[in-house]
Amino acid sequence: MDDALRILEDELQSGLSRIRAATSLEELEAAQVAAIGRRSAYSEVQRSLGKMPDDERRVVGKRANEVRAELEAALAEVGLALDERAEAVSLEADRVDVSLPGRRLRAGSLHPLTITEYEIVDTFVSMGYRVAEGPEIETDWYNFTALNIPADHPARSMKDSLYVDIPGMLLRTETSAVQIHTMESQEPPVFIIAPGRVFRRETTDATHSPIFHQIEGLAVDEGITFSDLKGTLEAFAKAMFGQDLRVRMVPSYFPFVEPGAQVDVSCFKCGGRGCRVCGNGWIEILGAGMVHPAVLENVGYDSERYTGFAFGMGLERVAMLRYGIPDIRLFYEGDVRFLSQFGRVT
Ligand code: DAH
Repeated sequence: MDDALRILEDELQSGLSRIRAATSLEELEAAQVAAIGRRSAYSEVQRSLGKMPDDERRVVGKRANEVRAELEAALAEVGLALDERAEAVSLEADRVDVSLPGRRLRAGSLHPLTITEYEIVDTFVSMGYRVAEGPEIETDWYNFTALNIPADHPARSMKDSLYVDIPGMLLRTETSAVQIHTMESQEPPVFIIAPGRVFRRETTDATHSPIFHQIEGLAVDEGITFSDLKGTLEAFAKAMFGQDLRVRMVPSYFPFVEPGAQVDVSCFKCGGRGCRVCGNGWIEILGAGMVHPAVLENVGYDSERYTGFAFGMGLERVAMLRYGIPDIRLFYEGDVRFLSQFGRVT
């Protein structure tokens, strides 16, 4: 019996010191197995109880239960402490320093063509125009016939235009086609500005691309005159390029207007004295004119009652002049080094 009691005391002492020395839950579990596991000296004493005489068993059994209770209390206490420590360690690891500077988000910016388009459109919207759109695939009627473009006009040829596999349909070559859609769908007064993509069978170089953008304008009402056209374009050019700018109109020919004009603005780089950008002091930015009576009749408008003007400009060309961009291809390559220079976010 004394042997058994001594073993229990030894096991209690060594068990307690091993439990208290545990620095992790794994070590604690190992201490538990060693102290009261199936193969521990403690369990051996327990198993031997059955063979002991009654009085001996009572003493040793009681002490064995006390030893177990003490060891289990120590296990629970150390287990709790280790849990708390583990929790504290993980909280510490997850700590966020809210005073650190944030990670910078790289904001994108609008494409220079989008910026230019918005500015042009805004200028006209502020004069009371509304934005109109039309399809990019057109019929012969909208792209040519209704615009008074004769059957033998070179623009109609497969060499200059991009036809699709449906007979009589092509990718629109100019936003002027939107004029027809708009006038067919409403009565005057018409005041629209129509930005959009156009397509031509062209090889790419520094100033040409088979896909580019135009902005078309159309105003039709009673009593609209050529001086309204000139005043409108002057207001636009000044808003876009600067207040001291001068505008001149040079006679030109487009089948859907009569008279037709090429619109030049005085060079915003040299003020009109002549430089590398303009050559002779003037820069051509638009085609324009008074809507041809035949076009008004084609959409069912009374050309005796209504008059109007129309104009069209190339968006890439305006943006290139504006920002001094030397090559049209830069617009389409998506190079961030190019795009990030324009910086406007909304
Ligand atoms: N559509 C013409 C072009 O692509 C531009 C143009 C000229 C549009 C005169 C017009 C206009 O509305 O009146 O070259």
